[in-house]
Amino acid sequence: MTNDLLTLLNQRRTIYALGKDVTLADDEIVTLATDLIQATPSAFNSQTVRAVFLFGAKHDQLWDIVIKRLKSEVPTEAAYENTKKKINSFKAGHGTILYFTDTAKVHQLEQDFTLYADNFATWAEQAQGSSQLNVWTGLANHGIGASLQHYNPLIDTLVQEAFDIPATWQLRAEMPFGSIEAPAGDKDTMAKADQFKVLK
Ligand SMILES: Cc1cc2nc3c(=O)[nH]c(=O)nc-3n(C[C@H](O)[C@H](O)[C@H](O)COP(=O)(O)O)c2cc1C
Repeated sequence: MTNDLLTLLNQRRTIYALGKDVTLADDEIVTLATDLIQATPSAFNSQTVRAVFLFGAKHDQLWDIVIKRLKSEVPTEAAYENTKKKINSFKAGHGTILYFTDTAKVHQLEQDFTLYADNFATWAEQAQGSSQLNVWTGLANHGIGASLQHYNPLIDTLVQEAFDIPATWQLRAEMPFGSIEAPAGDKDTMAKADQFKVLK
C-alpha cells in the first residue's frame, strides 16, 4: 500500500464546525457519494444501503425536526439550549446525507438463503459502515468536512413523513457535511500492542 490511502483516511475526521462554502456543486456531491456507495461491497452483492441527499430548505427541515423532537427528551431548559446549539451546528452545514437500510431486501435475503439468515442484518450494518466511511473519506478528499450522527430511531417516523421515505427503509445514520470552519479535535490511538496480535 502506498501512503496515499492512509493519508486520505487520516484526513477524514469528525468535523463539527461546518459552513456552507463547499468546493463542489450539489450534483457533484451526489454523483461522488452515489458512485462511492455503489463501489462499496456488500454481502452477496445485496446492495441494502439507501441514501437520501438533503440540501437547502430540506437540510434545514431535518435539523429543525431534530431540535423539536429532542425538546421532550432533554431534562432542563439550560440543557435544551445546549442541545439546540449543537443541532444548529449541523444545520450550519451545507447538506445532510441520510443513510437507510432497505429492510425488505434484508428480509428477502433471509428467506432466500436460510443457511445465512442470521447474518443478513449484521451484513447490512457492515455495508452501512463501509459506505459511510467511503463517502466521509471521499468528501474529505474534496476538503468537505462531515460528521456522523444518530438521532434515529427518535426521528424515524418524522423523517419518513417529511421526506416521503418508503416504509421499509430504516434510518441508520445522518451525515451533515459542509465547509470546514474549524479543525477536528485531538484524537488518541491505542498502543498497537494492546490492539493487535501478529502470529508467525
Ligand atoms: C459507527 C460510528 C458511530 C458514530 N456516532 C456518532 C454520533 O452519533 N455522534 C457523533 O458526534 N459522532 C459519532 N461518531 C464519530 C466518532 O465519535 C468519531 O469518528 C471518533 O471519535 C473518531 O474521531 P474522528 O472521526 O475524528 O477520526 C461515530 C463514528 C462511528 C464510526
